[in-house]
Amino acid sequence: MNSSLVNRINSCFQQRFKNEPLLINSPGRINIIGEHTDYNEGFVFPAAIDKSIVAAIAKSDNDLCTVYAFDNDELYQFPIENIQSIKNGNWRNYIIGVVAEIQKKGLKVKPFNLVFGGDIPSGAGLSSSAALENSIVFGLNEIFSLNLSKSEMILISQQAEHNYVGVKCGIMDQYASMFGVPDHALLLDCRTHGAKPYKVDFKDYQLVLINTNVSHSLVDAEYNDRRNVCEKVAKLLNVSALRDATEENLESIKSEISEDDYQKALYIIQENKRVLKAGQMLMENNLIGLGELLFEAHYGAQHQFKISCKELDFLVEKAIESPHVIGARMMGGGFGGCTINIVEKGYVDEFVQSISSIYKDTFKLECSIYFINLSEGTRLLNQNY
Ligand code: GLA
Repeated sequence: MNSSLVNRINSCFQQRFKNEPLLINSPGRINIIGEHTDYNEGFVFPAAIDKSIVAAIAKSDNDLCTVYAFDNDELYQFPIENIQSIKNGNWRNYIIGVVAEIQKKGLKVKPFNLVFGGDIPSGAGLSSSAALENSIVFGLNEIFSLNLSKSEMILISQQAEHNYVGVKCGIMDQYASMFGVPDHALLLDCRTHGAKPYKVDFKDYQLVLINTNVSHSLVDAEYNDRRNVCEKVAKLLNVSALRDATEENLESIKSEISEDDYQKALYIIQENKRVLKAGQMLMENNLIGLGELLFEAHYGAQHQFKISCKELDFLVEKAIESPHVIGARMMGGGFGGCTINIVEKGYVDEFVQSISSIYKDTFKLECSIYFINLSEGTRLLNQNY
């Protein structure tokens, strides 16, 4: 955990509001494999990481809620009733969305003060938004004794994103951030929300994230569009979600849909299979096999589901060329953010130096490198508050 971050947020809160807050740590996530399968009620393989949002929160005596976004140096005040989504509201919509979704359940939230900040790079596909939502719902649950379970909390976070941010996301990010287990990735069934933790010990290899530092426009619209296509094809197939479809089923309606939609649905069916295989490979310690699945997943994301971009493709191409990288793919919603790479331990420096320099020469832009540890999910930092 980043204790200087915790101290910064804690002392900022105490200076501003003159009382002691409840402190919450809510992590970002990586995903080993399984993109866009979550809202198809399929399988994903994420893990919480040691980069997080820290929130300091306490009840307020005023009529208004006061929120200070430490990293942006922005202050926002709002009344607790009649919450509406804000046009271009950015981080504000995550906060008010969570409050409003709690209220929709008939639970009472009173005014509160909040300071939050973090070390999850935003736009990197590491789910800083889910981490923020989870920190808020977790904090409000504590200070107002709402009695929500973690499973209820992640649904509130997800609904906040659907209804106040406008992204029809699946459950992967909120789940991984809330339920993370140190040193483990979670093979999550997004239909039942049952998850199996797998110990991640790559022995002679390690995970390296490379951030393209690009985030292309219309990402949210593209995301929702992919979801619409999947739902349309599922409906035609007469199944409740593509998770239930086989390649043979899809083949049988091929003439009724466009080639583009066919490829997208095929990607989802194949990606679901890859996630289950990845669990098997990890259990058998077959890292070469796992790496191959990552390369295949990238191919599918690039050519079939079409959620990649030239910067991500470039990084994966260079990873394929390196004899010391056994797997790589784009990670997260797509159109920017990070690649996840499995790199041979003795060659990590060599690999990141050469890829950083060639990336800069090609795109006139620096990429960023992150080394991460798999960590615990959303939690209270001061137990005896
Ligand atoms: C975003 C969404 C998730 C998931 C991924 C793609 O991170 O929030 O629900 O769909 O994209 O796998």
